[in-house]
Amino acid sequence: MKDKPYNSMNIPIITIDGPSGSGKGTISKEVANILGWKILDSGSLYRITAFAVRKYNLNINNEVDVKTMLSSLNINFDISCNGEQLIFLNQENITSLVRDEKCGIDASIVARYPSVRGELISLQRSFIETPGLVADGRDMGTVVFPEAGLKIFLTASLEERAKRRHKQLKELGINVSLTAVSRDISIRDKQDQEREHAPLVPASDACIIDSSKMSIKEVSEEIIKLHKYSD
Ligand code: C5P
Repeated sequence: MKDKPYNSMNIPIITIDGPSGSGKGTISKEVANILGWKILDSGSLYRITAFAVRKYNLNINNEVDVKTMLSSLNINFDISCNGEQLIFLNQENITSLVRDEKCGIDASIVARYPSVRGELISLQRSFIETPGLVADGRDMGTVVFPEAGLKIFLTASLEERAKRRHKQLKELGINVSLTAVSRDISIRDKQDQEREHAPLVPASDACIIDSSKMSIKEVSEEIIKLHKYSD
């Protein structure tokens, strides 16, 4: 069955997919800033779902219960005065509560459920807005925005990704060892790559960038260059 048209105004979209800690979030913000475009951090939707499962004491292994709860949630986003994305669940600011690795691992469990993924599709597509959208996640180029004008698959070595995530968590005041971070992101990557629905794989038309030895500036410039060529 063909998807309903979701981008009838042909608003430009850049998708940035990749494993945990590959720098998608940082690079998406940088690219969106340069272009003056909007951002979709799709991982936050799975994190909110996982957070709500915990908050409402549901069984994370029960897909029907998780999906029913998700349909009833009131999710909102805002931007703080320093430009950071704020996440609200039923009016409560939960921005800092969804960032730890436990929430990431739980997000990766609820992300296996096709009904949860299906429920989040239209919400993700509602982020399309002029003058353009940079969408980061795992299935942005393969499932959610298959017609995106530019698809990036951003990767880096496990060692480098663990170091980056560890630094990020430290900055958020979350104290965990580098070894624990490395273990957690390996678990998550395995779950994300091996799931049946919308697994983490590069789209067939994605440009693959290994950022292990590249700075944020170099990766962003590369993406902007590719965007100019794809116009
Ligand atoms: O990107 P982030 O680390 O916040 O994502 C948390 C989890 O949400 C991922 O490990 C993945 O399981 C899930 N996810 C997904 N599809 C997306 C974005 C995130 O399955 N588009």
